[in-house]
Amino acid sequence: MERNNKIEKNYMSPEQIPTSDRGLDKYLLDLGLTREELAGKRILDLGSGTRRFAKEVEDNGIVADVFSVDPIFEDPDQKIEKGADELAGQLAETDRPSITKKTVAALGENLPFKDNSFDFILAEYSLPAHAISEKQIDEFFQNSMRSLRVGGELRFCPPVNLQRKELTAYVERKLTELSKQNQYEVIKSGQLTVIKKLQ
Ligand SMILES: C[S@@+](CC[C@H](N)C(=O)[O-])C[C@H]1O[C@@H](n2cnc3c(N)ncnc32)[C@H](O)[C@@H]1O
Repeated sequence: MERNNKIEKNYMSPEQIPTSDRGLDKYLLDLGLTREELAGKRILDLGSGTRRFAKEVEDNGIVADVFSVDPIFEDPDQKIEKGADELAGQLAETDRPSITKKTVAALGENLPFKDNSFDFILAEYSLPAHAISEKQIDEFFQNSMRSLRVGGELRFCPPVNLQRKELTAYVERKLTELSKQNQYEVIKSGQLTVIKKLQ
């Protein structure tokens, strides 16, 4: 409870974790993907912010199943009230049934999906970048790996923690641990990290 309250306080405060509005092209660039690679896939946008990614996938005629997960969807008005002024307009732009029905208010460290659910989990400037504890990072990786299908990939950017410098080294240690297990392949390239579930 204590931990969740702290997380909530953190993400609801716009100065701590702004709910940004990156779109399809920026995701593709940062996460090393093409439009073709998204087609036909079941995708989790973990820490989706405004859901602009899901909206632009649809607007560009890419047929993919995109789920947007972000804790702000529990009570977006609270974040807007706390001073995220542009947020109301940005959320209104993605407020259409095809997107809202695949919007889930949840935390990346406690994903409410069945095991082996996704081809891609995309974490663009969300976790582990904005994690505030080692436990949260552990649970983020456990939940992501559990929720990926065999052959699926977690792709995240950036590789550093933006909340507490020392957590960057912890993320690196976790990646080393994962890469030593036969079940995963870890690929790091610039700002991008890919973890592929092999079995
Ligand atoms: C900087 S924004 C990035 C949003 C979007 N991915 C983008 O690139 O525009 C970070 C998002 O992560 C969300 N977030 C914060 N803590 C989270 C958590 N524990 N699990 C999932 N998302 C979280 C925030 O609410 C916020 O919307």
